[in-house]
Amino acid sequence: MTGRMRIAIDGPAAAGKSTIAKLVAKKLGFTYIDTGAMYRAITYKVLQHAVDLHDEEAIAKLIEKTDIELHPSEHAQQVILDGVEVTDVIRSHEVTSTVSAIAALTSVRKLLVAKQQGLAAHSSVVMDGRDIGTAVLPDAELKVFMTASVEERAQRRFLEEQSRGITTDYETLKREISERDLADSEREISPLKKAEDAIILDTTGKTIEEVTSSIVKYAEERYPR
Ligand code: C5P
Repeated sequence: MTGRMRIAIDGPAAAGKSTIAKLVAKKLGFTYIDTGAMYRAITYKVLQHAVDLHDEEAIAKLIEKTDIELHPSEHAQQVILDGVEVTDVIRSHEVTSTVSAIAALTSVRKLLVAKQQGLAAHSSVVMDGRDIGTAVLPDAELKVFMTASVEERAQRRFLEEQSRGITTDYETLKREISERDLADSEREISPLKKAEDAIILDTTGKTIEEVTSSIVKYAEERYPR
């Protein structure tokens, strides 16, 4: 491919964004950036320090000096928070149920959006999240809004958790996913919303390979070799 390309993938929780984004990045030789992992890492830090979740000033102070590094690896992207690996712990139930509240805070979004824009400043990237096409990379060359029915998303999450040895029942997962979508869509700053120029991709009933290759195709159409 010629030139630099930024691909923004947004959508509701558990729509398969990170699985697909990682594969698209691998196929195109781009850097994959999981912005959800950054919000999770900050949330983990806040929980570790037992800061009152309603005390935005204390949270802003705590996260002022935070170092988050994302290292690509074959399986999961490694997440390093202040020098300590947190890849798995940021997927805990506690972090998942708290992250939307933390991600709604102005100071948190300011810090992370700046970091994300810095990471995308000089290279071709596939970035996934909630506000990439609308706020982080509003001039991305390709924007995809990935959706799937809540039933299918809960089912996928159920199987994924099962493979990691976690047992949460399907109805609970479905409820948690819906609650997180509602919180992410209704927050004041950069809510989850399709960018006007994003392509909608409904992945319900589609395989990972199908979705990956349709995004790669869109990318190649926009950036012919
Ligand atoms: O993508 P993931 O489900 O890991 O994201 C966790 C949470 O981080 C989301 O539910 C949302 O509250 C927040 N998030 C966000 N903006 C992004 C990515 C994630 O607010 N760009």
